Parts: sequence; C-alpha cells; structure tokens
Amino acid sequence: MSEFLRDELKGRTAYGAPQLDVAVRLNTNENSYPLPSDVADAVEKALSDELRGLNRYPDRDAVALREDLARYLGVAPERVWAANGSNEIQQQLLQAFAGPGRTALGFGPAYSMHPLLALGTATTWVDGGRGPDFGLTAQHAVAQVKEHLPHVTFLCSPNNPTGTALSPDVVEAVLEQERGIVVVDEAYAEFRRPGMPTAISLLDKHERLVVTRTMSKAFAFAGVRLGYMAAHPSIVEAVQLVRLPYHLSSLTQAAARAALAHSEALLGTVEAIKEQRDRIVDELRAGGWQVADSDANFVLFGRFDDQKAAWQRLLDQGVLVRDVGLPGWLRVTAGTPEETSAFLGAMKGLRA
Ligand SMILES: Cc1ncc(COP(=O)(O)O)c(C=O)c1O
Repeated sequence: MSEFLRDELKGRTAYGAPQLDVAVRLNTNENSYPLPSDVADAVEKALSDELRGLNRYPDRDAVALREDLARYLGVAPERVWAANGSNEIQQQLLQAFAGPGRTALGFGPAYSMHPLLALGTATTWVDGGRGPDFGLTAQHAVAQVKEHLPHVTFLCSPNNPTGTALSPDVVEAVLEQERGIVVVDEAYAEFRRPGMPTAISLLDKHERLVVTRTMSKAFAFAGVRLGYMAAHPSIVEAVQLVRLPYHLSSLTQAAARAALAHSEALLGTVEAIKEQRDRIVDELRAGGWQVADSDANFVLFGRFDDQKAAWQRLLDQGVLVRDVGLPGWLRVTAGTPEETSAFLGAMKGLRA
C-alpha cells in the first residue's frame, strides 16, 4: 500500500522510544513513582461511578475538567482546553493555525514530536537551530521569526532533550514580533529550578501565546493521556473547530478530575525527583562528563565518541536511557534514588 502513501511519509518509520522490559527504565521521562494508594483509590471510585453511564457520549467540552485544570493553573476556565496528551493539543493547534501552505518554526534540538506533528498536518517545518551550548537567545529566535514568518512558533521550556528552561525575555521577544501564534511547551514546568518563571504569567499580556502542559510527567499520570493548554479564549474556540467530537472519554475526564482533586499528593514526588536530577548532574560532572543544566526531570549528558555504543553498554547493565539522535549525547530520566544509583553505577562501568 506504500504507493498510496503521501510522498512525504514514504520510507519513514513510526516515532517511539523502545519499550523494553528492563529493570531500570529511564528513557521516556515518566515519573518513576506509582500513584499513592489514596489517589489510586479515588481514581478507582471515580471510574467506577462512570461505568453505568458509558452508554452516553462524554461531555464534549470537558467543562468540569477544564474548571479543575484552570484552578490548578490559576487562570480563568475559558482559557483552558484539554485533550489526550499535550501531543494532541499541539496537533490541534497545528490543524487550526498551520497546515498546507503554512509554516511552523522550532529551535532544535527540541521535542522531536513538534516536527512530526507538522509533518502529519502537512505543515512546512523550519528548524531555527540553537547555539553550540544548546542555548537560545532572544536575538537568534527573533531573527528566525523575521526570516521565516511562521504561522506557529514552538518554544520548549524546559527544553527536551537539553533540559534547560528558557529565559522569559526570549518568549517575550518572540511574542513581540506579532507573528502567528507562539506555543510554549511546558511539559516539565513543575520540575523547574527556584526562580525560573513560567509563561503562564504572560497570558494576560499576550493574546497569541499558548502554554501547553501535561499530567504525564510531574503528575505521574502518563497512562491516562491528559494534556492541556492555557491561552486566550479565542484560541480555545479555534481548536474546537478541529477537535474530534467527544475526543476525551468519560473515563479519562473522571480519572483526571479525581487526580486533580489530589494534586498536592500527586505532586509530592516532584521534590524527590528534582533531588535525583541534581544528584545526576553533580555526580556526572564530578566524574568528568559534560552535562547540560536541567530544569526538568531528565539530564542530557555526554560526550561519547559513539553514543549508540554507550547506550547499548548501559542497557547491557540493565539501565535503559534515551538516544535522542544527538551525536555524542544521551538523555536519562531522574527517577527513584535506587534507579539513580543503578544508572550512576552503570556510568562508572563506561569509564572502565
Ligand atoms: C516537551 C514535551 N512536550 C510534550 C510531551 C508529550 O506529553 P503528553 O504525554 O502530554 O503527550 C513530551 C513527552 O515526552 C515532551 O517531552
């Protein structure tokens, strides 16, 4: 059937990190901690309460869930939209604001799904690149916006795979270009270091700004697939033009609402994960490795002559990390203290 495939999809392989059955899985930036029992019980009850009503479609506009998310973010409910993961939110944004004949701009290395979502929506993708230290300056970002006149610009803060959060002046400088919509992907916002602001505080000032968030990381809720965005109400209305009807199942909405009612307990692991992140940074640096600063729950480290061989050697020791395709570098998720010890121990083996 490949002859019928769109030309730009021919010969491509599907996106996805290996899902291997390994003792220490630190490759997809999940939260390593299972749900606390009282939260699991609350989710179970919420799901059970939904079961007899499953003959009906869910609330198409997920009103109650959006109210809960708005409360968590501290914004008005009409500014919030939710979908099956922030991936789906970003796809809806491209469907509404980009697509054939239009351009989306990102600054790689950044989240590899952004160009793939552009591909899927037949949007022209432009990689504006970054400095050699993976930094992104306002001057460089603005120059790229002026050159490519994107309909959608993706900024990622903290940036995956490098880990570092973006200085707010870069976000503001891009917004001040008044070109298209500007999406700040804040999937890892809850892990940022003290003093690092979020783009949520810019929403009142900038109508073109969209901030995407997720429950997949800090909330330890990746299996549920719940992402959301905060934006001007007119952007929320725009994505409703392209969303599938009833895109968020009743079960997803109920599970997410039960979890949000326990957000403090769920986010209770964030500080512990940040400690392990800082431990990874410190110990790798002490061991002579190059390590990018991180505001996220993962760390980019290197440099290896052959990162594929290093990835395999770590796997041989039972530790799965991520080869993000960046020559010389690998990425590891900060998990439990035991997982960190296993990873750092395996790294010592790499020096031998
Ligand atoms: C930067 C970034 N944005 C978005 C996502 C996707 O998150 P979700 O599970 O909400 O689709 C990820 C997942 O790894 C990510 O790294």
